[in-house]
Amino acid sequence: MPESNTSMDKIVSLAKRRGFVFQSSEIYGGQAGAWDYGPMGVELKNRIARFWWKEMTQLHDDIVGLDASILMHPKVWEASGHVENFTDPLVDCKKCKQRFRADQIDPDKLARKECPECGGELTDTRKFNLMFKTNIGPVDDGSGLIYLRPETAQGIYVNFRNIVQSNRMKIPFGIAQIGKAFRNEIVTKNFIFRTCEFEQMEMQYFVKPGEDEKYFEYWRGQRWAYYEKLGIHMDKLRWHRHGPDELAHYAKDAYDIEYEFPMGFKELEGVHNRTNFDLTRHQQFSGKDLQYIDQDNGNERYIPFIIETSAGLTRQLLMVLCDAYEEQKVADKGNDDDFRTVLHIHPIIAPVTVAVLPLMKKDGLAELAHSIRNELKEDYSTDYDQSGAIGRRYRRQDEIGTPYCVTIDYQTKEDGTVTVRDRDSMAQDRVQASALPEYLRAKIKSYKRA
Ligand code: GAP
Repeated sequence: MPESNTSMDKIVSLAKRRGFVFQSSEIYGGQAGAWDYGPMGVELKNRIARFWWKEMTQLHDDIVGLDASILMHPKVWEASGHVENFTDPLVDCKKCKQRFRADQIDPDKLARKECPECGGELTDTRKFNLMFKTNIGPVDDGSGLIYLRPETAQGIYVNFRNIVQSNRMKIPFGIAQIGKAFRNEIVTKNFIFRTCEFEQMEMQYFVKPGEDEKYFEYWRGQRWAYYEKLGIHMDKLRWHRHGPDELAHYAKDAYDIEYEFPMGFKELEGVHNRTNFDLTRHQQFSGKDLQYIDQDNGNERYIPFIIETSAGLTRQLLMVLCDAYEEQKVADKGNDDDFRTVLHIHPIIAPVTVAVLPLMKKDGLAELAHSIRNELKEDYSTDYDQSGAIGRRYRRQDEIGTPYCVTIDYQTKEDGTVTVRDRDSMAQDRVQASALPEYLRAKIKSYKRA
């Protein structure tokens, strides 16, 4: 086994083997662009979401939350520009029938209309709208056309007035939201990187025109610091500023935070200066006054500018797996046991925080382990495993990224102490079982990735 080399195949294999991510509808041959999150995956996803939510709302006094519906009035998407502009350029190969995004083909081949796979002839480039359409109501004649939202952001804009009024928000302030989004992506490779159904964690920060550039820089700093806090390898992150031809139709300025995935540097999240485009358009299309009235400044009225931070939750989960994955040589005996696969996930988001392992099932050790686990359950996500050699059990926990393993042995019966094994260093501490909640709390708080 090679020492620590992350490839996407290894991540996909571990994700399936240990219950993080499964192919959707696998028993029917799978559904492209859709994935299911297994017992470990849903725990990890929920914890990432909770971490983001806390960072954005609890730690920022001026940000409130929202959970808007996926189905929205179709005019929303006309106003937002998605009906007209949310398109990818698409070409098909007449010979092998494969479909490609024209902007991802070598420009010389595209100019010659040559298929990058089989050399066959490509069709002309046509625009393909990424929004999924469906129908609401009993009659399917087009009158009930409705879209599955391609971003969560619009749910925030159309609630801007409600939230200013109901919560007496004063500019600058933000609204955060986590939820599903859908895009009819043409190319859905690289596992869960680009999918048709995914989740976003978006925050829209409303500011006075003229203060947008200052807050744009502020939010760039905040989002960079978020990944530092999560213990990500910061040398695998970089900024990419959008050039004029990359900017979305609503953006004045935009930066992506890119992560070095196994397939290279790719977008992880975006920070966008959306100007007053969105609220201006919704005001036009809805006929409702969406100006902010600044009561502290002589009732000055204006349409706020918006700074958006837009992260993919499912893409962030993939990043966390890639960043945490390590195949590590731990001994030199010349056999398979010399290696372990370990996920160095930050304890704050690890699917299982602490595993409780009795050295033996007999002599009352299992009962003791159960009672210790019950004590920890209230505060931590726990696992219990009594089968197999202790070394094997540690390896199983390493593979799902459990930061701490508590082992109950014969000494526990005598003096009430247990061993706590640290996932990253594999060092063991002997501590009083009754002191475990406090001990773990201190370890998690001071955690630093080696
Ligand atoms: N509201 C702005 C917006 O949606 P975006 O750059 O299109 O901007 C933001 O998307 C983030 O959502 C991306 O950085 C990525 O993390 C995630 N994302 C976008 N499309 C995705 C897809 N098809 N599959 C998974 N994640 C996606």
